Amino acid sequence: MKPDYVRIFDTSLRDGEQAPGASMTSAEKLEVARALARLGVDVIEAGFPAASPDDLAAVQAISAEVGQQSVPGRPQAAPPIICGLARCTRNDIEAAWQGVKGARHPRIHTFLATSDIHLKHKLRLTRPEMIARAVEMVGFARSLCADVEFSPEDAGRSDPQFLYEVLAAVIKAGATTLNIPDTVGYTMPDEFGALIAGIIQHTPGARDVTISVHCHDDLGLAVANSLAGLRAGARQAEVTINGIGERAGNASLEELVMVLRTRGEKLGLQTGVDATQLCRVSRLVSRSTSYPVPPNKAIVGANAFAHESGIHQDGMIKNAQTYEIMRPEDVGAAQTMLVLGKHSGRNAFSKRLAELGYALEGDALLKAFNEFKKLADRKKEVHDADLIALASDERTTVPELWALETLQVVCGTTGLPTATVRLRDPDGKTHVHAAIGTGPVDACYKAIDGIVKVPVELLEFGISAVTEGIDALAEATVRVRHDAQRASHGHGADTDIVVASAKAYIASLNHVLSRQSSGRAQHPHEVSP
Ligand code: KIV
Ligand code: ZN
Repeated sequence: MKPDYVRIFDTSLRDGEQAPGASMTSAEKLEVARALARLGVDVIEAGFPAASPDDLAAVQAISAEVGQQSVPGRPQAAPPIICGLARCTRNDIEAAWQGVKGARHPRIHTFLATSDIHLKHKLRLTRPEMIARAVEMVGFARSLCADVEFSPEDAGRSDPQFLYEVLAAVIKAGATTLNIPDTVGYTMPDEFGALIAGIIQHTPGARDVTISVHCHDDLGLAVANSLAGLRAGARQAEVTINGIGERAGNASLEELVMVLRTRGEKLGLQTGVDATQLCRVSRLVSRSTSYPVPPNKAIVGANAFAHESGIHQDGMIKNAQTYEIMRPEDVGAAQTMLVLGKHSGRNAFSKRLAELGYALEGDALLKAFNEFKKLADRKKEVHDADLIALASDERTTVPELWALETLQVVCGTTGLPTATVRLRDPDGKTHVHAAIGTGPVDACYKAIDGIVKVPVELLEFGISAVTEGIDALAEATVRVRHDAQRASHGHGADTDIVVASAKAYIASLNHVLSRQSSGRAQHPHEVSP
């Protein structure tokens, strides 16, 4: 590994998935993992296998496929390292190993908190007990796997002297990567940089292992802190697509990678990421988690390259460098228009979808193609963004337990908004219900509730146009809570905004029902070892 090379460790499928309601099905995770491999990340943290049989199966599937194949489009590149998270317990470490052992380059990542607050209140361990457990469990992980990462959770608020002691002990026990998390996003860049420099300087053996940074964004400093850590000598950054993750999220992969690239001359650091894939992966993760990307989000937001004011537009026409420090095509943001029209055939349609990273087959392809034809009839121009929205609807990997057959709404300035819906149940039987509401979407959701009868609280409802123009396809996202801990999400696209909203709500209910049948356990931060 060259000394200026920074390993990109993506944890969208683990820490990212811990964002409330962002959970993905195994098939969605596999699709995101494929996209991450194409993006060129070095390590994919595929999940927390001890959380549930579903999580284990997802990590195993990713290891067997993405962890074995060379990267599409880059046949020389080795498959990424596939990593599984484990608390410092034998059970977790064994589960992590079961998850990743099918990969060509497996890694076990185990963690135990080092801050006094966590030791006293959460773990109820003394410092010597903490060190003993970490050493024993790193040694156990190392007996299974040659590549072991250790994280002292809440390192950002830990006593540096104690950290040096813990880290030296786990290096001796066999850890090959030391990941330094600012778990609660508390530190500031100068402090975090100094923490990393101190670890490298004062921990015996630190120069023989990889030092990694893992920063949370509670104060909006995750990328700045990660950068400070890299400048102080860390050579792995743990990041997520769109910065998703616990609370305010993690450092955003696209931001960190583009800082390293755009300011390469100053920083002298490199990654193996193919930045032209960034927007595509960002959209995929947004759709798979139903976490919308804010329009003003750096790098991947819809407005990241939009120039509104006359002065800026004038400058851009004269020379794009007046207001652009990166080109949209560098991050895959250029809007490409589908050259297909309503007379195009299914082969051309499926080829374009595959180029966009959506390989649909069989019924899903047929359904998406029929939707495309309907759209091409209604809409002058069909953009790639429209295709992606249609494909994401069909590609949904949540079982379609309930499906929308028909929907009729009456609304306007007089009378009460009324919706009549007909749904098909998992056994193929149809059910009809009508309801009134404060508006057409409310009426429609009440009518659906009258049939499906899964008690949920609507947490979030969002609708946006996929492209510009009055004939645009609408994309609805819905997040619902179905018990005290869990939220689920759904997504739907249609040129009719009420139909898109109904599809998204039904998808979220299907998500709830499928999760209830698979019985998922809690995420790692929610339970102590
Ligand atoms: O934020 C954190 O401390 C973590 C660890 C499990 C690495 O996510
Ligand atoms: Zn974290």
